Amino acid sequence: MFHPILNQAHAWVERVLRPGDLAVDATVGNGRDTAILAERVGPGGRVIGFDLQQDALDAASARLTSPGTADRVTLVRTGHEGMARVVAQHFPGRRPKAVMFNLGYRPGGDRAFATRPVTTLPALAAALDIVLPGGIITIVCYPGHAGGKDEQDAVLAWARAIPSVRATVVLYQFWNAVNAPCLLAVTPK
Ligand SMILES: C[S@@+](CC[C@H](N)C(=O)[O-])C[C@H]1O[C@@H](n2cnc3c(N)ncnc32)[C@H](O)[C@@H]1O
Repeated sequence: MFHPILNQAHAWVERVLRPGDLAVDATVGNGRDTAILAERVGPGGRVIGFDLQQDALDAASARLTSPGTADRVTLVRTGHEGMARVVAQHFPGRRPKAVMFNLGYRPGGDRAFATRPVTTLPALAAALDIVLPGGIITIVCYPGHAGGKDEQDAVLAWARAIPSVRATVVLYQFWNAVNAPCLLAVTPK
């Protein structure tokens, strides 16, 4: 009845995205979200993905095996806090329909590269500025690792402060699970 949290994020994003759209993966990691976005936007669409780790970008590239998907994905090794500038550089005049954040550290990767509020919050603000009305920002937070609870608290406070005339904000969480991740969806009006 209730989707696991990452599947729920994909379901919401897939409902919003249309062929030809631009989408952003703000935390590429192993590239699962990147690959799903690339499938969804179709041959005329584009995806731009951000990560600090070359290993992550390489893993994501290796995952883009479905025909045509590699051609529609641009992977940049830079922080997502520069999202507005980097998206404008690569896709002048275009705005994304969806931006996905999957916070924390890359499974199997270096935990020193876990996301941090000091860069996550500016990136979220940038995403809210550039995403199209009717589009969606999804954010998955993991409170169970070092620094994860503080980051989740900061993200939830950011989301709660968004005026309801600006965006609808929904929180999805398995409430009685220990250290359960939470999923936020922000849909600008
Ligand atoms: C949980 S993983 C992402 C998982 C990924 N979405 C997937 O489908 O496999 C989080 C990623 O965020 C990256 N990261 C950390 N700080 C970042 C930043 N400031 N900008 C972009 N990526 C960052 C980490 O290197 C890590 O690979």
